[in-house]
Amino acid sequence: MKGIILAGGSGTRLYPLTLVSSKQLLPIYDKPMVYYPLCTLMLANIKDILVISTPEDTPRFRNLLGDGHQFGIKLSYAVQEKPEGLAQAFIIGEDFIGDDSCAMILGDNIFYGNGLGYMLKNAAKRADDGKASVFGFYVEDPRPFGVVDFDITGKVLSLEEKPTNPKSNYAVTGLYFYPPGVSKLAKKVKPSVRGELEITSLNTMYLEQDLLCCSVMGRGFSWFDTGTIDSLMQAASFIQMIQNLQGIIVSAPEEVAYRYQMISKEQLVAAAQAYGNSTYGKRLLDVASGRFIK
Ligand code: DAU
Repeated sequence: MKGIILAGGSGTRLYPLTLVSSKQLLPIYDKPMVYYPLCTLMLANIKDILVISTPEDTPRFRNLLGDGHQFGIKLSYAVQEKPEGLAQAFIIGEDFIGDDSCAMILGDNIFYGNGLGYMLKNAAKRADDGKASVFGFYVEDPRPFGVVDFDITGKVLSLEEKPTNPKSNYAVTGLYFYPPGVSKLAKKVKPSVRGELEITSLNTMYLEQDLLCCSVMGRGFSWFDTGTIDSLMQAASFIQMIQNLQGIIVSAPEEVAYRYQMISKEQLVAAAQAYGNSTYGKRLLDVASGRFIK
């Protein structure tokens, strides 16, 4: 399975923070935002990942993340000239995806929770078996999101993008798993009223063929779409609180790579040392020493 991190867009809602920096490179507490979605894909056991961003920001992502060898994965990069919609990622990534199944995560989506890796690996397996998956998360106000409605058996009944009168309180998070052939289908998506190739239109195509599953992320999970200044702060505070309460590090790609046996202890220590005397580097050394909970 392949993975895509879509990390473009103009970030206008965060001006002036994003005037000269990509939103997805802003800090979420002690690490750049993009580390979080990267770890989410790695937790699904995805080792071949394409980062898509703007013409200006793509070189910055490459400078930060390189070819991925330090995380035991392969990273490549592609440019989205204009933010013409989330589903465009599969057209841009067509050659990269080839005949594989593919997951996509938005570069500003942060997930945290026990059993996340298990849930993601199940979605990856379903994709290999021909079914797409989205993840529903209960929110107080679902109107700014895609909204999924489902019946008591979990069968998806409807999907709507930013509805005025939502049929449920379940937001569709920015993480999607698709079977082989997603690029072909993405090319059939027609631009919406706001002129974008909507991911909800693509997901609706799977729903219409009865090929869409929705996994609900329950109370044990946290999800942040860090598109606004308040959600950015909330996410940073949450990560600060969890990390300092337990003395752990959340969403460090080097830790995931080490625990998934994609890099050795020596490589982990070398990576930690390369971060100098930062808290991040120190926490990675703690991981190498075996001090942390698993
Ligand atoms: O975060 C989850 C939500 O993401 C879903 O519930 C919605 O169904 C989905 O449409 C999306 O809604 P947003 O309002 O968050 O979409 P937005 O246009 O803000 O784009 C999300 C991120 O993707 C943002 O960081 C910018 C980036 N982006 C966006 C577009 C349209 C791109 O990189 N390229 C694009 O073409």
